[in-house]
Amino acid sequence: MRTITSERLILRPWDADDADFLLDVEGRWDVVRYLGADPTTMTSHDEAVASIERRRTTSAHPIHGIWVITDRTGARLGNLLLKPIPLSTGEEPSDPAEVEIGWHLHPDAWGRGYATEAAAAVSAAAFARGQGRIIAVTHPDNHASQAVCRRIGMRHRGTTTRYLDMSSELFELASER
Ligand SMILES: CC(C)(COP(=O)(O)OP(=O)(O)OC[C@H]1O[C@@H](n2cnc3c(N)ncnc32)[C@H](O)[C@@H]1OP(=O)(O)O)[C@@H](O)C(=O)NCCC(=O)NCCS
Repeated sequence: MRTITSERLILRPWDADDADFLLDVEGRWDVVRYLGADPTTMTSHDEAVASIERRRTTSAHPIHGIWVITDRTGARLGNLLLKPIPLSTGEEPSDPAEVEIGWHLHPDAWGRGYATEAAAAVSAAAFARGQGRIIAVTHPDNHASQAVCRRIGMRHRGTTTRYLDMSSELFELASER
């Protein structure tokens, strides 16, 4: 994965130095409450270090990635991911595998359009490298995230239980090629 830049942002790989920030984001109920079937907050620095280590070992892919979002001064704002989505138990994988985009920002960075700008930059970079389709799934009550989906041009495809062993609103963005 490469560093991606946009007008106000830099998206770069996670580094060991980012552990305190990751814990400050993922340790908040306001951030994790809509994530997955059984949301839990991160509780320790060690957990953050291990999570960053896992991110770094999967960081060689040309299109997928998990990026730290920073502003142009390097101040950390949040997390942006593009990766194959886990399917619910018993669901058959498609070929190619479905790729999800996701965003978690520090609450201090909400309300400034940063998630939208970062997601637009990552999806444009993925489409430029041959990705055909990107999906996002959101908890039905997560209206802030659904608004990001719509701002980057995603289409709402209804409610689904195909992913993450939960009921989600499905959004889709297809390459214009
Ligand atoms: C989902 C989440 C990233 C949305 O953050 P956000 O800041 O609302 O999203 P955006 O980056 O699109 O910003 C839009 C807001 O910035 C405002 N804004 C300010 N300047 C802006 C600009 N230049 N461009 C666009 N929007 C701008 C918009 O008016 C909007 O605010 P509003 O909702 O009060 O109208 C955030 O709520 C979050 O991290 N939640 C926790 C994690 C989570 O649930 N992730 C999703 C899992 S599916």
